[in-house]
Amino acid sequence: MTASIGFIGAGNMARSLLGGLLQQGHPAASLRASDPDAGSRERVAAMGVAVEEDNAALVAACDAVVLAVKPQQLAGVLSGIAPALRRRRPLLVSIAAGVPVQTLVAGAGDDTLAVVRAMPNTPALLGAGATGALANSACGERERALADAILGAVGIVEWVDDEALLDVVTAVSGSGPAYFFLLMELVTGAGESLGLPPETARRLCVQTALGAARMAYETGEPLAQLREQVTSPGGTTAAALDALEAAGIRDMVARAVTAARDRGRALASESTGAR
Ligand SMILES: NC(=O)c1ccc[n+]([C@@H]2O[C@H](COP(=O)([O-])OP(=O)(O)OC[C@H]3O[C@@H](n4cnc5c(N)ncnc54)[C@H](OP(=O)(O)O)[C@@H]3O)[C@@H](O)[C@H]2O)c1
Repeated sequence: MTASIGFIGAGNMARSLLGGLLQQGHPAASLRASDPDAGSRERVAAMGVAVEEDNAALVAACDAVVLAVKPQQLAGVLSGIAPALRRRRPLLVSIAAGVPVQTLVAGAGDDTLAVVRAMPNTPALLGAGATGALANSACGERERALADAILGAVGIVEWVDDEALLDVVTAVSGSGPAYFFLLMELVTGAGESLGLPPETARRLCVQTALGAARMAYETGEPLAQLREQVTSPGGTTAAALDALEAAGIRDMVARAVTAARDRGRALASESTGAR
Protein backbone atom coordinates (compact mmCIF):
# COMPACT_ATOMS: atom_id res chain seq x y z
CA MET A 1 0.00 0.00 0.00
CA THR A 2 1.31 3.46 -0.90
CA ALA A 3 2.22 5.55 2.14
CA SER A 4 0.43 8.87 2.53
CA ILE A 5 2.98 11.64 2.95
CA GLY A 6 2.22 15.14 4.23
CA PHE A 7 4.39 18.24 4.21
CA ILE A 8 3.97 20.95 6.83
CA GLY A 9 5.32 24.04 5.13
CA ALA A 10 4.86 24.16 1.37
CA GLY A 11 7.94 26.27 0.56
CA ASN A 12 10.92 25.66 -1.68
CA MET A 13 12.15 22.43 -0.16
CA ALA A 14 8.69 20.85 0.18
CA ARG A 15 7.91 21.68 -3.46
CA SER A 16 11.16 20.07 -4.59
CA LEU A 17 10.51 16.92 -2.54
CA LEU A 18 6.93 16.74 -3.80
CA GLY A 19 8.13 17.23 -7.39
CA GLY A 20 10.70 14.45 -6.93
CA LEU A 21 8.14 12.06 -5.42
CA LEU A 22 5.70 12.71 -8.26
CA GLN A 23 8.44 12.22 -10.83
CA GLN A 24 9.30 8.88 -9.23
CA GLY A 25 5.69 7.77 -9.63
CA HIS A 26 4.35 8.41 -6.14
CA PRO A 27 0.61 9.00 -6.70
CA ALA A 28 -0.47 12.60 -6.16
CA ALA A 29 -3.54 11.32 -4.32
CA SER A 30 -1.35 10.16 -1.44
CA LEU A 31 0.51 13.47 -1.10
CA ARG A 32 -0.65 16.57 0.77
CA ALA A 33 0.75 19.81 2.14
CA SER A 34 -0.27 22.53 4.55
CA ASP A 35 0.86 26.14 4.67
CA PRO A 36 -0.67 29.37 6.01
CA ASP A 37 0.40 31.18 2.84
CA ALA A 38 -2.24 31.06 0.07
CA GLY A 39 0.41 31.54 -2.66
CA SER A 40 2.42 28.55 -1.42
CA ARG A 41 -0.74 26.43 -1.24
CA GLU A 42 -1.67 27.40 -4.80
CA ARG A 43 1.75 26.45 -6.16
CA VAL A 44 1.50 23.01 -4.57
CA ALA A 45 -2.12 22.54 -5.61
CA ALA A 46 -1.02 23.21 -9.20
CA MET A 47 1.14 20.06 -8.88
CA GLY A 48 -2.00 18.05 -8.17
CA VAL A 49 -1.27 17.75 -4.45
CA ALA A 50 -4.06 18.22 -1.88
CA VAL A 51 -3.53 21.29 0.30
CA GLU A 52 -4.88 22.45 3.62
CA GLU A 53 -4.46 25.23 6.11
CA ASP A 54 -4.81 23.01 9.17
CA ASN A 55 -1.59 21.20 10.13
CA ALA A 56 -3.32 18.90 12.63
CA ALA A 57 -5.80 17.71 9.97
CA LEU A 58 -2.85 16.88 7.70
CA VAL A 59 -1.13 14.88 10.47
CA ALA A 60 -4.34 12.92 11.10
CA ALA A 61 -4.35 11.77 7.44
CA CYS A 62 -0.68 10.82 6.94
CA ASP A 63 1.68 7.87 7.50
CA ALA A 64 4.66 10.22 7.29
CA VAL A 65 4.81 13.93 8.10
CA VAL A 66 7.69 16.06 6.84
CA LEU A 67 8.39 19.22 8.82
CA ALA A 68 9.52 21.61 6.10
CA VAL A 69 9.23 24.94 7.92
CA LYS A 70 12.05 27.25 9.00
CA PRO A 71 13.75 26.16 12.23
CA GLN A 72 12.38 29.19 14.09
CA GLN A 73 8.82 28.21 13.06
CA LEU A 74 9.17 24.64 14.32
CA ALA A 75 8.28 25.04 18.01
CA GLY A 76 4.97 26.72 17.13
CA VAL A 77 4.17 24.05 14.54
CA LEU A 78 4.96 21.20 16.96
CA SER A 79 2.79 22.59 19.74
CA GLY A 80 -0.13 22.80 17.28
CA ILE A 81 0.22 19.21 16.02
CA ALA A 82 1.40 17.40 19.19
CA PRO A 83 -2.02 15.88 20.09
CA ALA A 84 -2.56 14.74 16.48
CA LEU A 85 0.95 13.22 16.40
CA ARG A 86 0.30 11.27 19.59
CA ARG A 87 -2.99 9.93 18.18
CA ARG A 88 -1.86 9.05 14.65
CA ARG A 89 1.83 8.25 15.39
CA PRO A 90 3.15 8.88 11.86
CA LEU A 91 6.82 8.81 10.97
CA LEU A 92 8.07 12.35 11.63
CA VAL A 93 10.78 13.63 9.28
CA SER A 94 12.35 16.99 10.01
CA ILE A 95 14.52 18.86 7.52
CA ALA A 96 14.82 21.92 9.76
CA ALA A 97 18.52 22.76 10.03
CA GLY A 98 20.06 22.32 13.45
CA VAL A 99 16.97 21.14 15.37
CA PRO A 100 17.89 18.08 17.49
CA VAL A 101 15.77 14.90 17.68
CA GLN A 102 15.29 15.53 21.41
CA THR A 103 13.66 18.89 20.65
CA LEU A 104 11.34 17.19 18.16
CA VAL A 105 10.18 14.40 20.48
CA ALA A 106 9.88 16.83 23.39
CA GLY A 107 7.77 19.15 21.20
CA ALA A 108 5.57 16.20 20.20
CA GLY A 109 5.32 15.14 23.85
CA ASP A 110 6.08 11.53 22.93
CA ASP A 111 9.58 10.10 23.10
CA THR A 112 8.48 6.82 21.46
CA LEU A 113 7.64 8.55 18.19
CA ALA A 114 9.64 7.43 15.12
CA VAL A 115 11.68 10.47 14.08
CA VAL A 116 14.16 11.08 11.27
CA ARG A 117 16.24 14.23 11.34
CA ALA A 118 17.69 15.14 7.97
CA MET A 119 20.03 17.75 6.57
CA PRO A 120 19.47 18.34 2.86
CA ASN A 121 21.42 20.90 0.83
CA THR A 122 20.44 23.55 -1.69
CA PRO A 123 21.09 21.52 -4.89
CA ALA A 124 18.13 19.40 -3.68
CA LEU A 125 16.06 22.21 -5.22
CA LEU A 126 17.29 20.88 -8.63
CA GLY A 127 17.02 17.21 -7.69
CA ALA A 128 20.81 17.01 -7.24
CA GLY A 129 20.91 17.14 -3.46
CA ALA A 130 23.04 15.40 -0.87
CA THR A 131 21.18 14.67 2.37
CA GLY A 132 22.51 13.32 5.65
CA ALA A 133 19.92 11.57 7.82
CA LEU A 134 19.64 10.10 11.30
CA ALA A 135 16.86 7.78 12.52
CA ASN A 136 16.01 7.57 16.22
CA SER A 137 15.73 4.22 17.97
CA ALA A 138 11.95 4.11 17.46
CA CYS A 139 12.49 3.78 13.69
CA GLY A 140 12.52 0.29 12.21
CA GLU A 141 13.40 -0.84 8.69
CA ARG A 142 10.01 0.30 7.40
CA GLU A 143 10.39 3.84 8.73
CA ARG A 144 13.95 4.15 7.43
CA ALA A 145 12.89 2.91 4.00
CA LEU A 146 10.01 5.39 3.90
CA ALA A 147 12.27 8.30 4.94
CA ASP A 148 14.84 7.15 2.38
CA ALA A 149 12.20 7.22 -0.37
CA ILE A 150 11.05 10.73 0.63
CA LEU A 151 14.49 12.30 1.02
CA GLY A 152 15.92 10.33 -1.91
CA ALA A 153 13.39 11.98 -4.23
CA VAL A 154 15.78 14.95 -4.56
CA GLY A 155 19.19 13.28 -4.57
CA ILE A 156 21.35 10.92 -2.53
CA VAL A 157 20.78 10.06 1.14
CA GLU A 158 23.60 9.06 3.50
CA TRP A 159 22.63 7.71 6.93
CA VAL A 160 24.64 8.42 10.06
CA ASP A 161 24.14 6.68 13.38
CA ASP A 162 25.38 9.40 15.70
CA GLU A 163 23.47 12.69 15.82
CA ALA A 164 26.71 14.63 16.39
CA LEU A 165 27.74 13.58 12.87
CA LEU A 166 24.88 15.65 11.41
CA ASP A 167 26.98 18.72 12.28
CA VAL A 168 29.75 17.21 10.17
CA VAL A 169 27.25 16.51 7.37
CA THR A 170 26.25 20.18 7.58
CA ALA A 171 29.92 21.17 7.31
CA VAL A 172 30.61 18.90 4.31
CA SER A 173 27.45 18.94 2.17
CA GLY A 174 25.14 21.52 3.80
CA SER A 175 27.65 24.36 3.53
CA GLY A 176 29.60 22.56 0.81
CA PRO A 177 28.07 24.21 -2.26
CA ALA A 178 29.52 27.54 -1.06
CA TYR A 179 33.06 26.11 -0.93
CA PHE A 180 32.80 25.00 -4.55
CA PHE A 181 31.18 28.31 -5.59
CA LEU A 182 34.10 30.17 -3.97
CA LEU A 183 36.66 28.03 -5.77
CA MET A 184 34.86 28.55 -9.10
CA GLU A 185 34.64 32.28 -8.40
CA LEU A 186 38.39 32.43 -7.74
CA VAL A 187 39.40 30.32 -10.74
CA THR A 188 37.09 32.33 -13.02
CA GLY A 189 38.48 35.61 -11.63
CA ALA A 190 42.06 34.45 -12.13
CA GLY A 191 41.29 33.41 -15.72
CA GLU A 192 39.75 36.82 -16.30
CA SER A 193 42.66 38.71 -14.83
CA LEU A 194 44.98 36.70 -17.09
CA GLY A 195 43.02 37.91 -20.12
CA LEU A 196 40.03 35.63 -20.79
CA PRO A 197 36.68 37.33 -21.47
CA PRO A 198 34.56 37.02 -18.27
CA GLU A 199 31.84 34.83 -19.84
CA THR A 200 34.41 32.54 -21.43
CA ALA A 201 36.22 32.13 -18.12
CA ARG A 202 32.93 31.40 -16.34
CA ARG A 203 31.73 28.85 -18.88
CA LEU A 204 35.07 27.03 -18.96
CA CYS A 205 35.29 26.96 -15.17
CA VAL A 206 31.72 25.82 -14.47
CA GLN A 207 31.87 23.11 -17.14
CA THR A 208 35.20 21.94 -15.71
CA ALA A 209 33.71 21.69 -12.21
CA LEU A 210 30.76 19.75 -13.60
CA GLY A 211 33.04 17.45 -15.60
CA ALA A 212 35.33 16.84 -12.60
CA ALA A 213 32.33 16.08 -10.36
CA ARG A 214 30.93 13.68 -12.96
CA MET A 215 34.29 11.91 -13.29
CA ALA A 216 34.46 11.47 -9.52
CA TYR A 217 30.81 10.38 -9.32
CA GLU A 218 30.73 8.04 -12.29
CA THR A 219 34.09 6.31 -11.87
CA GLY A 220 33.97 6.08 -8.06
CA GLU A 221 37.78 6.14 -8.12
CA PRO A 222 39.69 7.56 -5.15
CA LEU A 223 39.81 11.35 -5.44
CA ALA A 224 43.58 11.49 -4.95
CA GLN A 225 43.99 8.99 -7.83
CA LEU A 226 41.82 11.12 -10.15
CA ARG A 227 43.92 14.15 -9.25
CA GLU A 228 47.18 12.26 -9.90
CA GLN A 229 45.88 11.02 -13.27
CA VAL A 230 45.56 14.61 -14.53
CA THR A 231 48.86 15.80 -13.03
CA SER A 232 51.95 15.10 -15.17
CA PRO A 233 55.23 15.56 -13.31
CA GLY A 234 56.68 18.98 -14.13
CA GLY A 235 53.54 19.99 -16.04
CA THR A 236 51.06 22.86 -15.77
CA THR A 237 48.70 21.16 -13.30
CA ALA A 238 51.62 20.26 -11.05
CA ALA A 239 52.70 23.91 -11.07
CA ALA A 240 49.25 24.99 -9.90
CA LEU A 241 48.95 22.26 -7.27
CA ASP A 242 52.44 23.05 -5.93
CA ALA A 243 51.37 26.68 -5.47
CA LEU A 244 48.20 25.57 -3.62
CA GLU A 245 50.15 23.18 -1.38
CA ALA A 246 52.74 25.87 -0.62
CA ALA A 247 49.92 28.22 0.41
CA GLY A 248 48.67 25.58 2.89
CA ILE A 249 45.43 24.61 1.17
CA ARG A 250 45.10 21.30 3.07
CA ASP A 251 45.24 22.96 6.47
CA MET A 252 43.03 25.82 5.26
CA VAL A 253 40.25 23.48 4.11
CA ALA A 254 40.48 21.33 7.24
CA ARG A 255 40.11 24.46 9.37
CA ALA A 256 37.18 25.72 7.28
CA VAL A 257 35.20 22.46 7.53
CA THR A 258 35.94 22.21 11.25
CA ALA A 259 34.77 25.81 11.76
CA ALA A 260 31.47 24.98 10.04
CA ARG A 261 31.05 21.84 12.18
CA ASP A 262 31.74 23.85 15.36
CA ARG A 263 29.33 26.63 14.33
CA GLY A 264 26.58 24.06 13.66
CA ARG A 265 27.16 22.57 17.09
CA ALA A 266 27.01 25.98 18.78
CA LEU A 267 23.83 26.99 16.93
CA ALA A 268 22.12 23.71 17.90
CA SER A 269 23.00 24.12 21.57
CA GLU A 270 21.88 27.78 21.52
CA SER A 271 18.50 26.74 20.05
CA THR A 272 18.10 23.84 22.52
CA GLY A 273 18.99 26.14 25.40
CA ALA A 274 16.44 28.69 24.20
CA ARG A 275 13.60 26.16 24.41
N1 LIG B 1 16.23 25.63 0.95
C1 LIG B 1 17.30 24.90 1.17
O1 LIG B 1 18.22 24.81 0.35
C2 LIG B 1 17.46 24.11 2.47
C3 LIG B 1 18.62 23.34 2.69
C4 LIG B 1 18.73 22.61 3.86
C5 LIG B 1 17.73 22.62 4.81
N2 LIG B 1 16.61 23.38 4.56
C6 LIG B 1 15.58 23.42 5.60
O2 LIG B 1 14.33 23.15 5.01
C7 LIG B 1 13.31 23.86 5.73
C8 LIG B 1 12.44 24.56 4.71
O3 LIG B 1 13.24 25.44 3.93
P1 LIG B 1 12.62 26.19 2.68
O4 LIG B 1 13.78 26.79 1.95
O5 LIG B 1 11.70 25.29 1.95
O6 LIG B 1 11.81 27.35 3.43
P2 LIG B 1 10.54 28.19 2.90
O7 LIG B 1 10.57 28.26 1.42
O8 LIG B 1 10.49 29.44 3.71
O9 LIG B 1 9.31 27.26 3.29
C9 LIG B 1 8.76 27.19 4.56
C10 LIG B 1 7.25 27.32 4.41
O10 LIG B 1 6.63 27.01 5.65
C11 LIG B 1 5.56 27.92 5.83
N3 LIG B 1 5.11 28.01 7.21
C12 LIG B 1 5.43 28.93 8.17
N4 LIG B 1 4.78 28.68 9.31
C13 LIG B 1 4.02 27.57 9.08
C14 LIG B 1 3.11 26.85 9.87
N5 LIG B 1 2.83 27.20 11.13
N6 LIG B 1 2.50 25.77 9.33
C15 LIG B 1 2.74 25.39 8.06
N7 LIG B 1 3.61 26.05 7.27
C16 LIG B 1 4.25 27.13 7.76
C17 LIG B 1 6.16 29.21 5.32
O11 LIG B 1 5.15 30.18 5.14
P3 LIG B 1 5.60 31.74 5.31
O12 LIG B 1 6.50 32.02 4.18
O13 LIG B 1 4.27 32.43 5.24
O14 LIG B 1 6.28 31.84 6.65
C18 LIG B 1 6.82 28.74 4.02
O15 LIG B 1 5.90 28.68 2.95
C19 LIG B 1 14.03 24.83 6.68
O16 LIG B 1 13.92 24.37 8.01
C20 LIG B 1 15.46 24.79 6.25
O17 LIG B 1 16.35 24.85 7.36
C21 LIG B 1 16.46 24.12 3.43
